[in-house]
Amino acid sequence: MITRRSALGGALAAGLPLLAPGLRAGGEAHAAEALLPAGPHRAQDPVPPAFTMAMPVPRVLRPLSSTGGLDCYELTIRKATAEILPGTATEVLTYDGSFPGPVIHARSGRRVLVRHRNGLDMPASVHLHGGSVPPSSDGNPMDVFAPGTSRTYMYTNRQSHASLWFHDHAHHMEAEHVYRGLSGMYLLTDDLEQSLPLPKGRYDVPVTIRDARFDEHGQLAYTMGDRTRTTILANGRPTPHFEVAARKYRFRLLNGSNLRIFALSLSDGTPLTQIGSDGGLLERPVAVPVLTLSPGERADVVIDFSRHSVGTRLVLTNTGPGRPEQVGKVLRFDVVRTADDPSKVPHVLRDLPPASALPKAAVTRHIELSMDEDGRPDPRGFINGQMYDPERVDTTVAFGSSEIWNVTNANKRASHNFHLHLVQFRVLERGGRPAGPTEAGLKDTVRVMPGETVKLHVTFDGFRGDYVYHCHMLDHSAMGMMANFRVR
Ligand code: C2O
Ligand code: CU
Ligand code: CU
Repeated sequence: MITRRSALGGALAAGLPLLAPGLRAGGEAHAAEALLPAGPHRAQDPVPPAFTMAMPVPRVLRPLSSTGGLDCYELTIRKATAEILPGTATEVLTYDGSFPGPVIHARSGRRVLVRHRNGLDMPASVHLHGGSVPPSSDGNPMDVFAPGTSRTYMYTNRQSHASLWFHDHAHHMEAEHVYRGLSGMYLLTDDLEQSLPLPKGRYDVPVTIRDARFDEHGQLAYTMGDRTRTTILANGRPTPHFEVAARKYRFRLLNGSNLRIFALSLSDGTPLTQIGSDGGLLERPVAVPVLTLSPGERADVVIDFSRHSVGTRLVLTNTGPGRPEQVGKVLRFDVVRTADDPSKVPHVLRDLPPASALPKAAVTRHIELSMDEDGRPDPRGFINGQMYDPERVDTTVAFGSSEIWNVTNANKRASHNFHLHLVQFRVLERGGRPAGPTEAGLKDTVRVMPGETVKLHVTFDGFRGDYVYHCHMLDHSAMGMMANFRVR
């Protein structure tokens, strides 16, 4: 397994300066720069041609201890440098030095405790996205911990398998923090998932895809709402290649972008086989010619490379917003060897209650997402006409009850999506029609295109307390498109 440890570990051990405070300042590039030989890409475009670099597989964290139904982890949130571009040290924010972020493996019914030390010079809050988590461990935007202090999060994992992720949620900083690297995957499994003959182990690969913009020094440039993030990264490398065997692989795709929506397909024209979404496996696999993934959404797909002979190269392409020559390629799979393949994709993956059998909803709500579209330099984001106010409880729901939430994007041009903490919901309708098969499973984040309404069925169980809902285009939530709900 490739990890960043090898490259970075040496540099850190050698006393690499960990860069001065002030992420926005231009000065941070210089310390990194001094380390590097001037490469051919430095001058104008630091981004190499497509498929130059190999895609790493993110590091899997090992628990410090694993006893009595409890796995304990200890991480430090800190600045580090990563070789995102060849020969360039880019300053990033990391969980324990890892870029791409590390992976935690968890099992339903087994608790996970993560102690984070904040080694940054600004507050942090760690949210487990998609997790059914008590409020004290949810990583609420206002529930931050200060530089130099530590915070322990307890995840009870009383939910079924799912590809979750964790990321920073410190109020007004979450967008930039996630952009600079504070995200990792949290793969929760259970007996049901383990009993299926799906590709496992090294053939089950988490892939976070996202966009970024690099300045001329190869440093990550962040401005809120930036539409010029046109470098696509897969596991933290620009349009990389990945060597595969001629057999089936499972890829856990996460859109880790702040704003970009991806529309993914395979260059040989074969559909992707989607087996899972945010909240775990779908009931049945679905052949998806074009997979749409908005920020924060996950999709588990299986690709069978046995259809191809060794030597074949297959590109995962993107036809989402943007110029194809800039953002049209995500990742290339290079089939380099043959391999046995005992794995199968069963016709039935799990059982979920049909929409008609969901608990009866007592309350129907209307949620309207909007933002300024008049071209002002600092657009504001709203939910039901109001910007986020940490002191205001916008919605109160009864513990254990089910509700219908109709979520509308009131904008003409801007896309949004909608994410609720604490729960996995069902998407009943999109634009008045039954939701398609790719959205038929458990979801925690759902796309809402301009003028569109999605109808959600939500059951508020698990825990009581205060949580947030927001657009997961994190630049938008940072602009105010976020609200509080209380379960009581
Ligand atoms: Cu990924 Cu508030 O969430
Ligand atoms: Cu979340
Ligand atoms: Cu939005």
